[in-house]
Amino acid sequence: MSNTELDALQPDPSTTAAEIYRNAGVDVVPVTDAIGAEIRGLDLRNEFTPAARAAVHRAWLEHCVILVRDQWLSDADLIRFSRGFGDLDHGPPMARAADQDTHPEIFIVSNVLEDGQPIGFLDDRPLPWHTDMSYTEVPPKASTLHALEVPEDGSGSTGFINMYKVLDSLPAALRNRIASLRLKHDPAHALQGEVRHGFDAVTYEHIESAPGPVHPLVRTHPETRRRALYLGRHWNGDKRATFVLGMSRAQSDSLLDELWQFVAEERYAWYHEWRVGDYVMWDNRCVMHRRGPFNSAMRRVMHRTQIKDSVRPM
Ligand code: SIN
Repeated sequence: MSNTELDALQPDPSTTAAEIYRNAGVDVVPVTDAIGAEIRGLDLRNEFTPAARAAVHRAWLEHCVILVRDQWLSDADLIRFSRGFGDLDHGPPMARAADQDTHPEIFIVSNVLEDGQPIGFLDDRPLPWHTDMSYTEVPPKASTLHALEVPEDGSGSTGFINMYKVLDSLPAALRNRIASLRLKHDPAHALQGEVRHGFDAVTYEHIESAPGPVHPLVRTHPETRRRALYLGRHWNGDKRATFVLGMSRAQSDSLLDELWQFVAEERYAWYHEWRVGDYVMWDNRCVMHRRGPFNSAMRRVMHRTQIKDSVRPM
């Protein structure tokens, strides 16, 4: 669906969320006061009607993360539903199945090995708080996960944090101080520290002198117009992942450490404990996510899509 077609589907702003949900025949139940809502009454395999799309879109904008349980989706279903929100990125080669030509839009997140080879990516190491692909010029607006296999002991939950609320909770002096600052994001190192293909480990050793996209530290969401703290990620392995332009490295590190303390408090976070069949979509423009440790002896298989944005963070 093109962006013009998507715009045509935007609900009339005078229509209340309750009316939109009623029209679609769904219930939207918040999972915490801060973030997340479960949508009940949807089967994502069905035709995605304009009323259903309007309801999912509204719940996602209002609650930042939506959960739909008991979804038995093929990869084609997952792609079709995700495309209702925009064009999809293709997964990196290590996150794609052997039949990658059939469904290159599916990223496999898994710790499972077959014949000694990983079937997906992100293995079973914990992932710290981050925003997907903040190190690119136009990061994706949404990411989605569909749970196919989950550890039976309940480990491997995914945390989500509401970055509108983190911004609002900052002391006023700090909020004013960061209002117009800009952050450079390291594209050279992956979240778990590896040097990305095509980058030179030595050249990109220091974030302050490395090239990288620059985004506002406080961004305005293009749809809700609300402002959110946009930190991207703190570390890539043991490397600083971001740098505040116009500061010395020491000033930048100190300010970022101070801001990340508010994330570490996790006051506006929700940890989703997965069940097989869960479908989750988060708004990458106002949410960070992380994955807790999990029992690596147990299988965890998620199929993931990533929905492109059409505008840079602003
Ligand atoms: C991700 O960061 O996209 C993966 C999260 C997870 O495995 O729970």
